[in-house]
Amino acid sequence: MMKKRDFPIFNDVFTPIVYRDGGIDLLDQTRLPGRAVVLRITDVDKVAEAIKTMRVRGAPAIGITAAYGMVLGLERGEEMNRVAEALRATRPTAVNLTWAIERMLDTFRKHEGEPAGDLHAAMLAEARLIHSEDIEANQNIGSVGAALLPDSARVITICNTGALATGGYGTAYGVLRAAHEQGKMEMVYACETRPRLQGARLTAWELLQNGIPFRLVVDGAAGALMARGRIDAVFAGADRIAANGDSANKIGTYQLAILARHHGIPFYIVAPTSTIDPDTADGKGITIEERSEDEVLAPLGVRFAPDGARAWNPAFDVTPAELITGIITERGVQHPPYHLVGKE
Ligand code: MRU
Repeated sequence: MMKKRDFPIFNDVFTPIVYRDGGIDLLDQTRLPGRAVVLRITDVDKVAEAIKTMRVRGAPAIGITAAYGMVLGLERGEEMNRVAEALRATRPTAVNLTWAIERMLDTFRKHEGEPAGDLHAAMLAEARLIHSEDIEANQNIGSVGAALLPDSARVITICNTGALATGGYGTAYGVLRAAHEQGKMEMVYACETRPRLQGARLTAWELLQNGIPFRLVVDGAAGALMARGRIDAVFAGADRIAANGDSANKIGTYQLAILARHHGIPFYIVAPTSTIDPDTADGKGITIEERSEDEVLAPLGVRFAPDGARAWNPAFDVTPAELITGIITERGVQHPPYHLVGKE
């Protein structure tokens, strides 16, 4: 297991991404929990590859990585619009990616005519600001969300929304973490999250690091847990939240929302305002990434399905706003009907 002293740190917080001296140090999430490999990435194509292959994943984390990727592109003298396009094309659903790239392009345009050193300083400062704002937002989200939980809370979550998926601290996971810090968390049930097992590999790893009591469950166990009265609330992250509150998140989130409604359990979506896409009116406008069939036929490279089997592998689903009890952002909790505005 990775020792605490080996963790990448930004602003005193554990983070999966650090920019340093013309390169990005990136904790390779495809190798966790077995090995903590920190990659040194110095060109844009490698940044794009790392996002596409999910060495870095989670909506805020890929936005931050792309922002630093723009800095690397500038350092290599590349054309900024080409860099932006290459990074934008990596994963289609998480709006944080586009949002961060646009913010970096705006900064570039604002400082384009300045001496090279000033332009570089402005771009790096903007990327670091995106990063530090995300950590700050997550810490606020944590305290807003934890206040919604009863004492001895038992919650279920899906995918990984922790420090690994963000600039640091976590979104839905940040709520669980804050509740634990307040002594309120009795049990976290972490869905293993087929097919990439972000819950089993990454959330379980973070829960162990943070000393939070948990049980890993197969995704199909959520209904049985709720039926037995063992869940007080569901907390899930988001990759894109439409203006009406429809929320795209890891495949399986929609099922949790339906189960929660059936059992009368609150279902919360938790995300920074950078995940809100005010330009998308509702969930029908959200592009859902479809990934390789191999992720289902041969999870983590181990073939289970017979030769000739085919798979369908959407990475995300959309939970309709009417199933969402509240959307928690750094600005507070919003309840339906949602009329959401994004981060400026
Ligand atoms: O495919 P992934 O692992 O990038 O999917 C991640 C999720 O679905 C997260 O819930 C979402 O990005 C929010 S992360 C704070």
